Amino acid sequence: MENFTFKNTTDIRFGKDRLDTELQAAIAQFGQKVLVTYGGGSIKKSGLYERAIKALAGLDVTELSGIEPNPKIASVREGQKLVKDNDIDVILAVGGGSVIDASKVIASAKFYDGDPWDLVLDSKKRFAIDQLPVVDILTLAATGTEMNTGSVISNPETKQKLGTGGPNTPAVSFLDPSLTFSVSKWQTAAGSIDIFSHLTEQYFDQKGYENDVRNGLIEGIMRTVIKWAPVALREPDNYDARANLMWASTMALNGLPRTGNVNSWSVHPIEHELSAYYDITHGVGLGILTPHWLGFIYSEETKPYFVSLGRNVWDLTGDDDTVATQTIAKTREWLASLDVPTTLPGVGIETDQDFDAMAKSAVQVNHLDQNAFVKMTTTDVRNLLEAS
Ligand code: NZQ
Ligand code: ZN
Repeated sequence: MENFTFKNTTDIRFGKDRLDTELQAAIAQFGQKVLVTYGGGSIKKSGLYERAIKALAGLDVTELSGIEPNPKIASVREGQKLVKDNDIDVILAVGGGSVIDASKVIASAKFYDGDPWDLVLDSKKRFAIDQLPVVDILTLAATGTEMNTGSVISNPETKQKLGTGGPNTPAVSFLDPSLTFSVSKWQTAAGSIDIFSHLTEQYFDQKGYENDVRNGLIEGIMRTVIKWAPVALREPDNYDARANLMWASTMALNGLPRTGNVNSWSVHPIEHELSAYYDITHGVGLGILTPHWLGFIYSEETKPYFVSLGRNVWDLTGDDDTVATQTIAKTREWLASLDVPTTLPGVGIETDQDFDAMAKSAVQVNHLDQNAFVKMTTTDVRNLLEAS
């Protein structure tokens, strides 16, 4: 195992209906002036908006609405103006990953006088400045943003979708699984695939360490998602299903599954190009690419990873070769069973006109030709896109 430091200070408030009694104090500990951020209106439809505003009674509330999926830099710019003009003390982000991601960058942008896109392009700038505390009420199980420092922001003008890290994880995260009962089948599937992909990206440890703690953790969370995603699709208001998916989302990307290993992600940077060019749903894009990527990385050398995945996650038995190849087939089958498109034409990407530019950018952004678990050239990425 590598040496590592693990520190994560997010105050998790997991469970039903806690926000009604706990939100006020969770916010007020940071000040009176709060910016409430949200998306396109799902929280108004579900009644969550009213509950949150009621819980904030007596505080000085400013609002930023309309944060889109694949959040755009325009929302961050709008938020930067609001936090500065109103001298905001704390942000309350109510929504899915997009709302929380944008809010984290707005939290940094209060302390930056230039264009916040600079902060996305160069995360180091964010470590040199302060960041407002972010409290969130998560409404979709997927990204893990509720307990990590990351954000992913899109700039439609430059066709870029880039990850940025800040100094802090959210200060407090309210994780009420019942708030996800209203998540559509499409977003439930996409979120589950996103969780699964965070785990596959981290499972393939470049050094092949016998790190049983984190391997077991990843395998356990994978089994959880595989088991409960279909249940949530069938029974949207099944609390156990939603609770397992929500905690899996948080655990998959809060830093713990990465401890002690060395890895670098491949499928995410490629998917971010798809979203940058075609604004598709992140998790659906990951689901399309993942089986092809598994096929790409499979070799005699990497076979042991597939064998342990197959035995420990998919309960496969038999000789190693059979288990390894069945692991890819099982993954493909599970993804297809979630009833979202499994091909690029299925999400409306019918032409390869942008594949070269996308492949070049993916390789460049994540140094896939140098750091990936199995290194990828632009030709490899292009071929993967073609095959998808
Ligand atoms: O905008 P509203 O009206 O709220 O509707 C949203 C949105 O249309 C809806 N929704 C959310 N909660 C709901 C709900 N609808 C009904 N009931 C609810 N309870 O779902 C739609 C998608 O929301 P979004 O926030 O975009 O989804 P998600 O949580 O999957 O976030 C995706 C974004 O996060 C990034 C992705 O790239 C993408 O931009 N990621 C962030 C990461 C991180 N910060 O660590 C890591 C991930 O790998 C990922 O890249
Ligand atoms: Zn993801």
